[in-house]
Amino acid sequence: MNKVTQKLSTAAPMKTSIFFPSACKTRPYRLLAALYRAASTKSKRKKQTKKWRISKKKHKETSLTRRRTDAKELLSGMIEKVSPDILKYWVRRASLFSRFDYGVKCDEQGLFLVTPEEIAKHQAKICGPDQIVIDAFAGVGGNAIQFALRCKYVVAVDIKPTRIKCARNNAKVYGVAHKIDFIVGDFFKLTSGLRADIIFLSPPWGGPSYKAAKVFNIETMLEPENGFSLFRVALSVAPNVVLYLPRTVDPEQLVQLAWLSSPPLAYKVERNYINGYLKALTVYYGNVANYK
Ligand SMILES: C[S@@+](CC[C@H](N)C(=O)[O-])C[C@H]1O[C@@H](n2cnc3c(N)ncnc32)[C@H](O)[C@@H]1O
Repeated sequence: MNKVTQKLSTAAPMKTSIFFPSACKTRPYRLLAALYRAASTKSKRKKQTKKWRISKKKHKETSLTRRRTDAKELLSGMIEKVSPDILKYWVRRASLFSRFDYGVKCDEQGLFLVTPEEIAKHQAKICGPDQIVIDAFAGVGGNAIQFALRCKYVVAVDIKPTRIKCARNNAKVYGVAHKIDFIVGDFFKLTSGLRADIIFLSPPWGGPSYKAAKVFNIETMLEPENGFSLFRVALSVAPNVVLYLPRTVDPEQLVQLAWLSSPPLAYKVERNYINGYLKALTVYYGNVANYK
């Protein structure tokens, strides 16, 4: 039976019971009472639903304001000002740093930039236990901490002193500060003094607007340098490069990067999901790409 026929067959008996002629003749008041009851229950229900909707809306509004105030209160000392844009990252803070509530410090933008812990943990596992890793754009330490937990030693560089201060504090929270060398400076000016087995690059993607681009162009959209020059510089520091990029990056450009070396580097592209949502890509170049 299709839906239309089902509807018709259930509607018919109701009609007959209400307008049954004998019922009308013998007990009209009963019929009227039934009709009245039906109408009043309907309006009662309508009123209740309206009330319920209003209270639900009120609850939603108050709980959101409460959440915002809670967030601001809790963040004093961790993050100075919380804008609504950043609030959603704060709500997900445990996915960024599982030890967030144990004293992790972060500036507002740093929270938006940090690599989710699950992804950072996986990238560090791939790099292996015997490697020295340079995290050229360390931020507040999301990746550097995971490398320190799983690799031999880490050099964490960031141009912003506040970020390095936070990264150092956060490394202490994870008990790995002794395995990281923190450097404040411009990575491009430090390369002559840096050598390692692996260099990890998680440069800024140009702010939240990167999401609007259909295809992310590493030549024009990466900060602070174009992706090709950044990759060349990285190769002068380490034979293996790990790149953390937006999910919409042009795959053709990822191949072109491998061909910047002669012979071309082996590479592997990984899709990084968080709760079933494709968050980013990690591309491994060099021997590090040969993991099973
Ligand atoms: C995407 S964030 C890195 C986030 C980091 N992976 C984490 O999990 O916390 C990029 C960082 O690169 C830093 N940065 C930008 N230009 C730089 C440069 N020339 N040298 C070193 N760091 C730089 C920014 O200050 C920012 O903290």
